Amino acid sequence: MRAREDYSRFIMAALVLTIAILVSFELYIRREPQRIAADEKRDVLIAVTVGRSLYAQNCASCHGEQGEGVDAPALNDKKFLANTSDETIFSLISSGVPSTEMPAWSQVHGGPFTDEQVRQLVAFIRSWEPDAPDREAEAMAGDPVEGLVIYNSTCIVCHGENGQGTDLASALNNPERLAQFDDEWYIDTITDGRPSQGMPTWGTVLSPKQVRDIVALLRVWERGETVELPGPQAAITEALHALEEGDLHAAEHALGEATQAASGEVLTLLNEALEAIEAGDRSAAEAALLQAQELVGSGDMGGDGHDDGG
Ligand code: HEC
Ligand code: HEC
Repeated sequence: MRAREDYSRFIMAALVLTIAILVSFELYIRREPQRIAADEKRDVLIAVTVGRSLYAQNCASCHGEQGEGVDAPALNDKKFLANTSDETIFSLISSGVPSTEMPAWSQVHGGPFTDEQVRQLVAFIRSWEPDAPDREAEAMAGDPVEGLVIYNSTCIVCHGENGQGTDLASALNNPERLAQFDDEWYIDTITDGRPSQGMPTWGTVLSPKQVRDIVALLRVWERGETVELPGPQAAITEALHALEEGDLHAAEHALGEATQAASGEVLTLLNEALEAIEAGDRSAAEAALLQAQELVGSGDMGGDGHDDGG
């Protein structure tokens, strides 16, 4: 009798244990997807972190610190990321783009990286996607400041300062008139002109982007506002910086911008600097620029104080 009792106790214990195992297995099964998801998230995070430093050391010089594109296409770009799968980015990086500056990076193609490292780069590039800017749309959008520069050199003679009109042509800053027509209408009107009325055809002179810049300016006027040209300070500072670095080409480019925003004595000095650069005389260019900078800084040519960036 006793022995039989012990035996059934043993069966009870085994049953309880079995149920306990079943229950915990069930719990484990239910938790598993969560655990896998957490693991995957962690793996992606690690890949992105490693990919970030691989990118900074190997890709940023051409594609930009933030993937904005320097001597190579932008990678941090909404369209590119939306239209290009991970597999495609992987193979672009692995094999490079033949007969371009883009080298092959994977060991299979004679480069330095393992497949794992290429995947880490892909993960890092992919991590830009949620905030990636639409660079094409940004490049297409008109810039009213650029628009004013073009307006002042090409339209002002007939349409007057700030679009107020002259004897030769009507005002372009009338908000009611501006509200009647959409951007397309203005783009077409400016591009085709009205030769019979004496409005030149600008489509052969200005680029489509420049026409959009002017339309952006008209839209500012529609709001009853005006556009201020930035003073030449920033461009002069940039030119000086470029001279210091010995980059005469960049200095010339910045000076070109500075002259558009300058007048009077400052303009004379900037032109002197330009001539000096063309003659290869860096120190003369620097001297003229420093003088111009002083004039601009002391005059009330606007600007919001000193730019201590860089
Ligand atoms: C020496 C400059 C240079 C370096 C360094 C470089 N690239 Fe490129 N990359 C380019 C150029 C140029 C292109 C465009 C090739 C073409 O004309 O299609 C390109 C194209 C690409 C593309 C395809 C882009 C597109 O729009 O089709 C990807 C992706 C890419 N590079 C990733 C990388 C990564 C990742 C690295 C670092 C491991 C890297 N690149 C390093 C120059 C470079
Ligand atoms: C040689 C003189 C002249 C120049 C320069 C000129 N326009 Fe005109 N523009 C006219 C004339 C004339 C008209 C048609 C009659 C009018 O509106 O006064 C006109 C009409 C327009 C219209 C239509 C206005 C409306 O409300 O119907 C726009 C927009 C316009 N011009 C934009 C420009 C822009 C932008 C530039 C510079 C890129 C420019 N114009 C340069 C003479 C000129």
